[in-house]
Amino acid sequence: MENLVKLAREGRLEQGLGLTFGTHRPNPVERVAYDIEELVRDYRVGRRADGSPYRFLIKTYGCQMNEHDTEVMSGLLLAMGYEQSDSDENADFILFNTCAVRENAEAKVFGEIGRLRPLKAKNPELLLGLCGCMAQEQGVQKMVLEKFPWVDVVFGTHNIHRLPAILTAAKQSQETVMEVWDKAAETVEDIPKVRKDSVRAWVNIQYGCNKFCTYCIVPYTRGRERSREPEDVINEVRELVAAGYKEITLLGQNVNDYGVDLGTITFAQLLRAVNDIEGIDRIRFTTSNPWNFTDDLIAAIAECEHVVEHIHLPVQSGNNEILRRMNRTHTREYYLQLVNKIRKAIPDVSLTTDIIVGFPGETEAAFQDTLSLVREVQFDNAFTFIYSPRENTPAAKFADEVTLEEKKDRLRRLNDVQYQISLARNQALKGRVVEVLVEGESKTNREVLTGRTRTNHLVLFPGDISLKGQHVDVEITNPQTFLLKGQCVYREEVVS
Ligand code: SAH
Ligand code: SF4
Ligand code: F3S
Repeated sequence: MENLVKLAREGRLEQGLGLTFGTHRPNPVERVAYDIEELVRDYRVGRRADGSPYRFLIKTYGCQMNEHDTEVMSGLLLAMGYEQSDSDENADFILFNTCAVRENAEAKVFGEIGRLRPLKAKNPELLLGLCGCMAQEQGVQKMVLEKFPWVDVVFGTHNIHRLPAILTAAKQSQETVMEVWDKAAETVEDIPKVRKDSVRAWVNIQYGCNKFCTYCIVPYTRGRERSREPEDVINEVRELVAAGYKEITLLGQNVNDYGVDLGTITFAQLLRAVNDIEGIDRIRFTTSNPWNFTDDLIAAIAECEHVVEHIHLPVQSGNNEILRRMNRTHTREYYLQLVNKIRKAIPDVSLTTDIIVGFPGETEAAFQDTLSLVREVQFDNAFTFIYSPRENTPAAKFADEVTLEEKKDRLRRLNDVQYQISLARNQALKGRVVEVLVEGESKTNREVLTGRTRTNHLVLFPGDISLKGQHVDVEITNPQTFLLKGQCVYREEVVS
């Protein structure tokens, strides 16, 4: 057996197993429609010689992009003959689909990989894998080779469609098999997905990000922005509608820039086209960057009846100097003006955001600007984070004088303010009847159903699971900070 690690280090891994490692610069990005049969033809290693299936388990971290990639990889593994496993102990392939956006998520993954090592003694056929955004980091690749050599396979975010070949190589190798392209070769179409939900579905419209916010690793782990062709998006949504999905979420790191690279369509036009699909129910999209949130886009959201009244609009900070150092391209004033325009055009809109505290150079006064912006905007919800320096991002080199204690204190103070606002906004809904799309049963009480309003508020109410996938009207009786409790007041006739 060739020494794959050595080949990988020398950038010659492809000589070993037809794999590639490191720099890969296909240009321009191509659209490739894959035939699943072709992808797995030579790699049906999901079954033992006696025909019994191996079992896989994917542990997913991070954003909806990753959740959706897991659906694609599950589709590939099933096509290879694998079956899903419901526990670590029963699995023959455990894959970590990782997130690199903050350091603590990475530490957790390495902890888990260490914890699972003894399982390899119990099941000699067990393969451990690491993919997703962490796999794109050279520091992580090195760490795996040096400190976690019992990881069998590492592959990057641009190599997902190569999973059958990579896994087959891993089965034949004693060493870690690594395939990480640093650029996307193509937008990969037509790989079947195993969707984890039957009511809601994610549809990628754009991959990568070009914004290069100075704290963020995503442009390095996901590559440059690539939009999917509108026909591919529309066809996928049509199929989902035909299969009975009620809610479609269009996914991208910066959806407003959808189509900029294609030059033939804007995000507003795509929204209108998806809105026109016959039988479509709800359309969501995430994430929007405040920059390039055009009047045309606001009009499209306001006018398209199927596009819901919820915009996730990450602000990150309320202080202009910090925003400038973050390379966010928007200012506090621009953001507030945008919020006003959106609220005028879409009166009941729900706005949520992401905020980072403790960015290098954030003074108490700068942090107070964030608090005042949060009070002024009155977000429905905010995802708040302590700044985490990331490998090779510009901000990692900025002098950081804010102590961890101070950062934690700011996070606590920010959350206190936001929780009060969320509760007050939810309390204003008391007695109101809202339209809920039923998603399923509550995890803790099977007599309680969960669903969401168009504005993405989580609603819990007593009801029967036969309502799953239907719209029901629910009167809000007990609003809380993170959810609304209520009673069903009307139920659509079930047509049998
Ligand atoms: N594309 C999205 C964000 C994707 S990352 C956007 O631009 O809005 C999700 C969130 O993680 C970001 O909005 C930011 O608030 C947070 N985040 C990203 N990098 C971070 C870092 N280095 N430290 C702490 N939080 C970070
Ligand atoms: Fe990261 Fe900024 Fe791109 Fe969002 S827009 S993914 S925060 S670089
Ligand atoms: Fe994390 Fe990668 Fe998403 S870094 S947030 S999983 S794009």
